[in-house]
Amino acid sequence: MNIQSNFSLQKLNSFGFLSHAEYFVSVENEHDLLNAIEFANQKKMPWQVLGSGSNVVLQDFLPGLTIHMAIFGKKLVSESATHFYIDCGAGENWHEFVKWTIEEGYPGLENLALIPGTTGAAPIQNIGAYGAEAASMIDSVEVLDTKLVLETQANTEVDLNIQQNWQVIPKEECAFAYRDSIFKRDLQAYVVTQVRFAIPKKWQANLSYAELANYFLDNKSPSAQDIFDAVVMIRSKKLPDPALLGNAGSFFHNPIVDLATYTQLKEKFTGLVSYPAPDLLGEKQFKLAAGWLIDQCGLKGYRVGDCGVYEKQALVLVNHGTAKGSEMLALANHIKQTVLEKFGVTLSQEPNNLP
Ligand code: EPU
Repeated sequence: MNIQSNFSLQKLNSFGFLSHAEYFVSVENEHDLLNAIEFANQKKMPWQVLGSGSNVVLQDFLPGLTIHMAIFGKKLVSESATHFYIDCGAGENWHEFVKWTIEEGYPGLENLALIPGTTGAAPIQNIGAYGAEAASMIDSVEVLDTKLVLETQANTEVDLNIQQNWQVIPKEECAFAYRDSIFKRDLQAYVVTQVRFAIPKKWQANLSYAELANYFLDNKSPSAQDIFDAVVMIRSKKLPDPALLGNAGSFFHNPIVDLATYTQLKEKFTGLVSYPAPDLLGEKQFKLAAGWLIDQCGLKGYRVGDCGVYEKQALVLVNHGTAKGSEMLALANHIKQTVLEKFGVTLSQEPNNLP
């Protein structure tokens, strides 16, 4: 294990914020990961896991140990009459994984093409786009249970067998919801090391997202590759490439409101962009397009120093140069306050703050 100190994370976060880790280690296998967490526990220092840093707001300094997830590998492990089962290491690039599944003849993830980040992050925030969510094709998630690491460390009688710290959590126990899961609710409880996907053998095009359906008005039977290409095209047009303009995709969730709130807003703001959301305890709910709310506040293209609201998509905040995480959070607060005053709706932040 090569632990480095005062390590620059500027290239390891898609916002490109200047940030330093007190200690930094890249882990390529389960053994290194376990050693890294044990090292931090022994030294009584905080630790955090970083994938490709595409959904985080890093502060200037990360105390303790920053663990860079670099566990790779992807393969078909089995198949049933109805599904292909595929394992993918947490450090694998998500888009490359999606591309590989299509090339290998396991289509199904194409609507999720070009989402930045690692495969390990896919279950954590249940990534979603263009009418699909990762959870629908996840079978189970392999994690290091950090509670168990503490227990085995405290108990010297116990043989430090790597297996005893690992758990395979079936999908039903992951509490997947819109950009949410048990992993997201407590980032310190589990470290995702591998994801098992169950991809239906019977492929069906998913054109439920209006923008995608419109794209295929003249092509009644697009292939998975066609949809993959279309999603890549649409995303590239609307969302900035982090290599050129630092960003973390959507900065806010699309807020979910009840029927009464929705009805009031719709009366007052006739152009309100909304979609029906799944019922909660039998009550109707609606998802509002946060990008529209921010846009209506006149904030699209708004800029304070190097922090800005992207000019083509108001839900995306961008780093025009040398912005800091703290400055971006200040801009985010201003946006939240402005939207609250105009619409009475509270926006919640999507990327995780570290630390
Ligand atoms: N809109 C505006 N102005 C804007 C932005 C959006 O008026 O500046 C309105 C438009 O009417 C548009 C609607 O809002 O039709 C929705 O916008 P869009 O289709 O761009 O999707 P979104 O709701 O802003 C969500 C996800 C994206 C995902 C897209 C496509 C969230 C928080 N965001 O964005 O995910 O790519 O749908 O499915 O759910 C991400 O999570 O990082 C992300 C990019």
